[in-house]
Amino acid sequence: MKKGTIIKNANQIVTVSGFQAKKGKEMNDLGIIENGSILIENGLIEKVGTFDQIVNGLNLDEYEIIEAKGKTVTPGFVDPHTHVVFGGYRADEYSWRLRGDSYVDIMNRGGGIVKSVTQTRQSSFEELVKSGLRRLDSMVRFGVTTIEGKSGYGLDFDTEIKQLKVMKKMNQMHDIDIITTFLGPHAVMPEDKGKEKEVIQWINNEVLPFVKKENLAEFVDIFTEKNVFELEESREYLKKASELGFKIKMHADEIFPLGGAELAAEFGATSADHLLKVSDKGIQMMKENNVIATLLPLTAFSLKEEYARARDMIDSGLAVALATDLNPGSCFSESIPLVIALATVYMKMTPEETITALTLNAAAAIDRADTIGSIDVGKQADLLIHEFESYQFIPYHFGVSTVETVIKKGKIIYTKDGY
Ligand code: NIG
Ligand code: FE
Repeated sequence: MKKGTIIKNANQIVTVSGFQAKKGKEMNDLGIIENGSILIENGLIEKVGTFDQIVNGLNLDEYEIIEAKGKTVTPGFVDPHTHVVFGGYRADEYSWRLRGDSYVDIMNRGGGIVKSVTQTRQSSFEELVKSGLRRLDSMVRFGVTTIEGKSGYGLDFDTEIKQLKVMKKMNQMHDIDIITTFLGPHAVMPEDKGKEKEVIQWINNEVLPFVKKENLAEFVDIFTEKNVFELEESREYLKKASELGFKIKMHADEIFPLGGAELAAEFGATSADHLLKVSDKGIQMMKENNVIATLLPLTAFSLKEEYARARDMIDSGLAVALATDLNPGSCFSESIPLVIALATVYMKMTPEETITALTLNAAAAIDRADTIGSIDVGKQADLLIHEFESYQFIPYHFGVSTVETVIKKGKIIYTKDGY
């Protein structure tokens, strides 16, 4: 049993150094160390510097040495918005959308979220764990070391709780860490249409206290949207969730500019997500209240919508994070390479901003900027070795994962043969 691991002589170490989200211009600051090495002990980053500096006084025989000459090391990617646990698929809907049907039309025809709810209710605990773990395996290959995962395909007590417990189980079984979010108000079943107020009352009185008592979720989320949960209902829910001590995320201003971002600011949410239709006032209020903008380019791509105004947000001084939004409907993809491609080409984010958005800012979007998301002494050793000499290759080799080795808590959990 070795005492630790040394990553030796990487051409670049992209530290993204910091313990809180980087805002605005700061997002360009990657804190690069040229020809750097990292000492890992007990799953933590012990030292970062030149090889000579970090091995001073050590017996090298006691350490596993990973040669990283000509390669780039970054923090592990964090995916701070996924719906990773769901039953069944909606491939037919995707085909209909490719032919021109809209997401909302399909939803109104009884497809959409409700269809996944039915299939998730019918899936056993074990089936959900199995498919969820397979998705995590796929994410690791893209360099993802921590994710957020939501409920929201149950909508009844038992299935919402089942989804949260499935994620707890996956967290124990898989190297990827999962931070769980309760998304009971994701939709209403057709029989509850028009009774959104009552649904929120039921969630507030029956479900949220139980989720809290059993410690099944750290965050709550809500689909605040026209004809789904409007502002007043959302406010009732967020009020109760805050009282119970949950941290807040929101699906905000995705399809209609309802003012979800403003509401997120009012409640001091950790993040507001989607934001395709956010107003300037919403951006300003998010900035004043330190709400992170988690942008989901794969969803805009899949829905053929305009991308979120990342440039305006960053130029206004917001902290932007990026995530996949993996789900069976609006976005069946966990592809980090595609997120990077869309962010850089269509959202006009710089390569540096994009990397910050997938590491430190993504960690901050799940309130973990103190322990992951950057290469700083004392943080968890969640690291990626990329096969090229500089971080610029990460967006440049578009659509392809540059990740060669994934290290989670100091342990190698994935390697790919270089070429
Ligand atoms: O983040 N917008 C709401 N919820 C999901 C879509 C869920 C689904 O279509 O199944 C989202 O895009
Ligand atoms: Fe989502």
